Amino acid sequence: MPLPKRVVLVGPMGAGKSTIGRMLAKELGYRFLDSDRIIEDRCGANIPWIFDVEGEEGFRQRETAMLDELSLEERTVLATGGGAVMKPENHSLLKKDAVVIYLKTSLEQQVERTRKDRNRPLLQNDDPVGVLTRLFKIRDPLYKKLADIVMHTDRKSPRLVVRQLVNKINPRTPRQRRQMRKEGRSHV
Ligand code: S3P
Repeated sequence: MPLPKRVVLVGPMGAGKSTIGRMLAKELGYRFLDSDRIIEDRCGANIPWIFDVEGEEGFRQRETAMLDELSLEERTVLATGGGAVMKPENHSLLKKDAVVIYLKTSLEQQVERTRKDRNRPLLQNDDPVGVLTRLFKIRDPLYKKLADIVMHTDRKSPRLVVRQLVNKINPRTPRQRRQMRKEGRSHV
């Protein structure tokens, strides 16, 4: 089975999309892209600032434009923001030439991983757990609908998640993989 042109990671805040995406890209010999970080670089401002000045809708417009642009980038692993699935017009951009992976994470893990974060404006309020709970109810069905692979990440190291993902994306035998690596034909 040939490798997909693109791998796209979706899932909630705190799912580990950036960490796992970076490691997965290295493993596949692909380029790692993080849509939030590229939006910040282009704006010269961080996400809280964009939410502050342009509102969530301003950020979402930038996000859609970014997903459109990045949908043309082949041999890439793309980490998306947790809300990228909210606009229906983003769905075809996420799916384009891609294997979409949903990094599914329990609410407890999301809370734990985002607890001290100041860079996520949607969680800067009195009830971040309530927000994560509400967002999960709305978004989980959308992540599932878009995903070709659903990968549970709780109680797994990023390394293990990446190994399991590589096996799902490109299920060769370990012997085949060793041989290909030796021949420099593939990074997996
Ligand atoms: C958001 C998630 C964030 C970022 C923005 C909005 C969301 O990305 O795009 O703060 O709506 O869930 P991460 O999922 O990488 O935290």
